[in-house]
Order: sequence, then C-alpha cells, then structure tokens
Amino acid sequence: MSNSPVHIGTKTTSAQPLAMARKPDSCVAVLFGVTGDLARRKLIPALYNLAASGALPENFALVGFSRSAKSAEELRERLRQSLGEFSRTQPIDEEVWKDFSSRIHAVAGNIDDPEAYKNLAREIERVEAAAGTGGNRLFYLSTPASAFKPSLLNLRESGLVKHAFGSEASPWSRVIVEKPFGHDLASGVELNRLVHEVLDENQIYRIDHYLGKETVQNILVFRFGNTIFEPLWNRNHIDHVQITMAESIGVEGRGAFYEETGVLRDIVQNHLLQVLALCAMEPPVSMEADEIRNMKAQALRSLRRINAHEVDTHVVRGQYDAYRGEPGVQSDSLAATYVAMRAYIDNWRWQGVPFYLRAGKGLGKRVTEVSFHFKSIPFCLYGDREVCQLIPGNVLKLRLQPDEGISIDIASKIPGEDLSVGGVTMDFSYSEAFDKQAPEAYERLLLDAMRGDATLFARHDEVEHSWQFCDPILQRWQDSKFESIPIYEKGGMGPSESDLMLARDGRRWLPLG
Ligand code: BG6
Repeated sequence: MSNSPVHIGTKTTSAQPLAMARKPDSCVAVLFGVTGDLARRKLIPALYNLAASGALPENFALVGFSRSAKSAEELRERLRQSLGEFSRTQPIDEEVWKDFSSRIHAVAGNIDDPEAYKNLAREIERVEAAAGTGGNRLFYLSTPASAFKPSLLNLRESGLVKHAFGSEASPWSRVIVEKPFGHDLASGVELNRLVHEVLDENQIYRIDHYLGKETVQNILVFRFGNTIFEPLWNRNHIDHVQITMAESIGVEGRGAFYEETGVLRDIVQNHLLQVLALCAMEPPVSMEADEIRNMKAQALRSLRRINAHEVDTHVVRGQYDAYRGEPGVQSDSLAATYVAMRAYIDNWRWQGVPFYLRAGKGLGKRVTEVSFHFKSIPFCLYGDREVCQLIPGNVLKLRLQPDEGISIDIASKIPGEDLSVGGVTMDFSYSEAFDKQAPEAYERLLLDAMRGDATLFARHDEVEHSWQFCDPILQRWQDSKFESIPIYEKGGMGPSESDLMLARDGRRWLPLG
C-alpha cells in the first residue's frame, strides 16, 4: 500500500521569541586557510550574508591568514569571486560588499613558522585599534587536520591566545576547529589533551556543521516542545529507528582526503552520531549548553560497542563504482564511500531498539532524514493476521534536508462500503509553513561563537565517546585490508549487502527520498 500525502494546515505564530539570541560581541575574526575550499564555499559567504542581514557586530574585522594571498586587495578580489559562486543570496549587494570588504585584511605566512605569528600579532593589534573591537579574538582553524597542532602551539607561544582557566576572560580569545577532530580514539584524546593545555574547554568550539542546521536544532523543539511524542519515545512503542545521510555527489576532487578518511570518519563519527544523540538523549534540565551536552554525551556513551569480531555482522561498507577512477584515489583502494550499520543504545529507554545508520556518497538521491518506525498493531480486528500485516505501520519522519519537514504515516479507512485500509501521510513542510529562508549552518555557528554560546558545538567527551564507538569498526577494516569491498553503482541505492542486513531482521530501508 502506498501512502498518499495529506497536507495538514500549519498555523505559525509570530509570537515573541521564547529566548532572544544574544548580540554577538565585537571582535576580530582570524581565518586560517582563508583561500581554502571551506572558506571560499562556506565561511566567507556566511560572513557576507551575516553582514547583509545586519547580524555582524558593528565593530568587526576579518584577518585572513594564508600562504598565498599577499595583500588585502588580492585577497578581497579572490573572495569577491567566491561570493558570486557560492553565496546563498544572489546577486551580491555591492554596497554591502564594499563595507564588508573594507573590513578584510590579509597576512601571508606559513602555519608552522613562528615569525609569521609575530606578523599576525602586529596586524591584529593594528586592526583592533582601527576597528575598535575591544581585544576579542576569534581564531578559525579552517586548515588540514595536520596543521592543527602547530597552529595551536604557535598561537600560544606568540601570546595571541591565553588559557582562561575556568573563567571567560575579557577580552576573550576563542578557537574554532573544523572536523575531523582526530582520526581515531587515540588521536582524538591526544588532541583534546593538547587543546586543554593551551585553552580552557570554554574557549574551544569544535564545529559539526550539522548542529547549525535549523532542522537539526528543531529535533529538540519537536521532542521537548510537544507533549504527545515523549510518552511514545521509547522501546515500548518504537520498533526501530533509521538515520540516513545520502549524497548524490561523489568525492568531488577530494579523492586523496577520502582515501585517508572514508565515510565512517567523514560522516558517521560526527554528523550522524550527533543527530542520533539528539534523537536518543534524555530530556535536559535546561537549555544551557552544558546541560544539553551532558545528555548528548550520555547517549553517546550508552552506544553499545561493536567488537571487532561482530563488525561483519553489524556493519556493511561499500564503494561506488567510479570511485577508483577519481583523482587522488588508488586503483585498488578499499576506502569506504558507503556504510550501513545496526547500532544499539544500552539504557532503559532504548534497550533492544535497533538504530540503523547509513551514509554514502554517489547514491541516487541527496537526502538526510531520521525515521521512527512504530510497532505494529497488537491485535488484528479486520480478519486474519496476514490481512493486518498489509496495514502500513506508523512512521514518523524528520526530513532534515533537502525537502525539510516532518511527516507521520497513519492508517486510514479508504472511503467505500468495503473495509479497505490505506496509508496516508500528514506532512509539514518548512518552506510551506514559514516564509523565511533558513540561514546557512555556518552563519548560525559563527554568530554563536562570537556570542560565546557553545550549545551547538561538540564537547570533548562527546567526540571521544563517538570515537570509542567507531574505533573497533575502523580497526576491523584496517585488519581486513586484503579483502574486497562491495562495489555499488553510482546513482544507485548502495550495496545490496545493506538491504540484506535489514532483511535478516525482517525490516527494510525506507526508499531514499
Ligand atoms: C562534510 C563532509 O562534513 O559534510 C562532506 O566532509 C559532505 O564529505 C558534507 O559532503 C555534507 O554536508 P551537507 O551540509 O551538504 O549535508
């Protein structure tokens, strides 16, 4: 039986916000890797759009640090080009750009070179005095993971950042780091140790851009702003949960990166497990950053470890067929571009409920969603059990992107004298309900870092629990390096082994999208 969508009326209120977002503090943002891919595609467009909407602090300046951009003029020209290509709002407002670009400065240097940090310090002081930013400094390390250690140590040695020792110093210095935060448990722990040597935990902002997405933030409002779902949110009512992040793109020129990283480190260890934590966590006692992070960390800690000898039963990996032809990829590569797994959370709420996770590149459709599959009816009133098995079960779907919304599948009588039961879908769509374009995740996260609000950033223990879960799987794959990997067709649904894993449990993946 296929479900036909039924639209429910959405009444949105324009009431007073329940909590007003704090104004971001005046500051100088220092962007390491300003000419890199992330800065061009995401960070500079995010800052420009914040400037366009008037959300940036009045006293704000940006210092771009890179090896290649030798002057502010050159850097501004390069960034203006990126905006044309990547800004979510087009065309670029030349008035806004004029003002924004006048706040951009450049320092050229090598990340390992202590001398470069002396130049950087001089430039920051000059810019601070001119822009009246009051000494607050936000450093964004948008660089390869290997640059993380030298840049952090050089920032300390040059006096550009100082350990706040438990307090929030004024003026403040904060550091944003990009994922991946380590490449396994040992390196993640080591990085946390290094970070805590240089900075207080309240000065470090570990980015997981998924947490900046409106629909991901809405998971908490959906769960704790409504009363009807929480009583059902447990093993008594939910049969299983599916979390999917499917991408249609391949590795897009990042072959060498993917060879090292693979999908488990790139997507599961961070984005997927963060989404899982928000869906599975216990209610926090308040919306304070640490209260929410305590609950997320507890959920991640409760993830049952899949031991190396169980990996082949609970985890399936795959590689899309065109991957080995991508630049930077070995012709016999075993890097996984797809992974599917069966995970369990060992606590009272979720005991025995499988959480099926899948993530992959080169799939037929781009979709990120979470679906909660409720248990089937306990007794069949309409004839034989086989008849009732045709009644589709209730599925609650949180569509995180691209067609953002929430839907619930319910059974309904099909009009007519015979008793026929069909599935219908109640559907809420963000774009229909709200006439507001959602900001890009990076816009929200940059502002939050300027406000000192770490709610949407991962804390050290969350990162380590996530690595604890991923490590045995990585280990097993590492040990099996002479084995083969299932190959799936680019543009398809992933390897058939993934379907088989669910079929063995008597279940099926939802079709993509
Ligand atoms: C990044 C990964 O973190 O997230 C990329 O490194 C992936 O491989 C990207 O493509 C997906 O982000 P989004 O916001 O497009 O879902």
